[in-house]
Amino acid sequence: MGFFASVNGIVTPAEEARVSVLDNGFSFGDSVYETLRTYDGRPFEWGRHLRRLRASAGRLGFAIPQTNDQLLARLDAVLERAGNPESYIRLIVSRGLGDLSYHFEKVQGPTVVIVVKPYGGFPASHYTEGVSVALVKVRRNHPQALDPAIKSSNLLNNVLAVREAQARGAEEAVLLNQRGEVAEGASTNVFVVRGGTLITPLLETGILAGITREVVLELARGLAIPAREQALAPEDFLSADEAFLTSTTREVVPIRAVDDRPLGRVQPGPVTLRILEAFRAYAPSHCA
Ligand code: PDD
Repeated sequence: MGFFASVNGIVTPAEEARVSVLDNGFSFGDSVYETLRTYDGRPFEWGRHLRRLRASAGRLGFAIPQTNDQLLARLDAVLERAGNPESYIRLIVSRGLGDLSYHFEKVQGPTVVIVVKPYGGFPASHYTEGVSVALVKVRRNHPQALDPAIKSSNLLNNVLAVREAQARGAEEAVLLNQRGEVAEGASTNVFVVRGGTLITPLLETGILAGITREVVLELARGLAIPAREQALAPEDFLSADEAFLTSTTREVVPIRAVDDRPLGRVQPGPVTLRILEAFRAYAPSHCA
């Protein structure tokens, strides 16, 4: 059990895995990534993650030559070596080996890295009592500067936000966009429940199109829970009946407080709980 990595198909213990100092991922943050997790040892929503990964790389102007099946074979080799009951998976693709210049035509790549570690989940109390979040001062990157829809490993906007949240004792940072609308968490999407309706910010707010977010919207349809994508003001968030975060690693986690202001009356809220249960029922049967 443990941390293992594949660099361009070569599997080693993660601490022995090496990427060159000339790799554009290191020198420019010029790479894209996906975080996945397994259920019963298999990666959840492989197809959706690969679609988003290729879209992110496309936005940066490079292609990933390997097919989804070839990449899955590489992942399987690492998962097998690691032998974890459940794994956290980081799939990173950088433009490749460069020369510290903006001469992208010279870059040899891409570099494909897969890192696997045991997935231990989050404390049960996160799901029974909720987590506190901080509405941070750092704003989400403007889509015309560095579009949050691109899942790049250039994560400094997120790092600054989380550092601010942690300094305030919060579990996650929630960022506003430049217009002051609720955008997303540093590594999560945000939902609120108002009058029985699920509301989540529009993609045009400047957020990542989260896969958990997408699945939650689909599950809500199946459960006949009204759901819409709509701009959210901070006041709409603070006065919501319920709110929750979604992500690959956290699934659906209730928010109990925003900057120490309690949110909602019961934890988890009834709609949040229905969505969480539906998500957990859905996940194991949607793995590669
Ligand atoms: N984070 N928003 C941001 C900025 C994210 O980085 C993520 C994912 C999400 C949720 O997306 P998904 O449901 O597809 O995981 C939203 C992953 C977990 C990470 O950074 O490791």
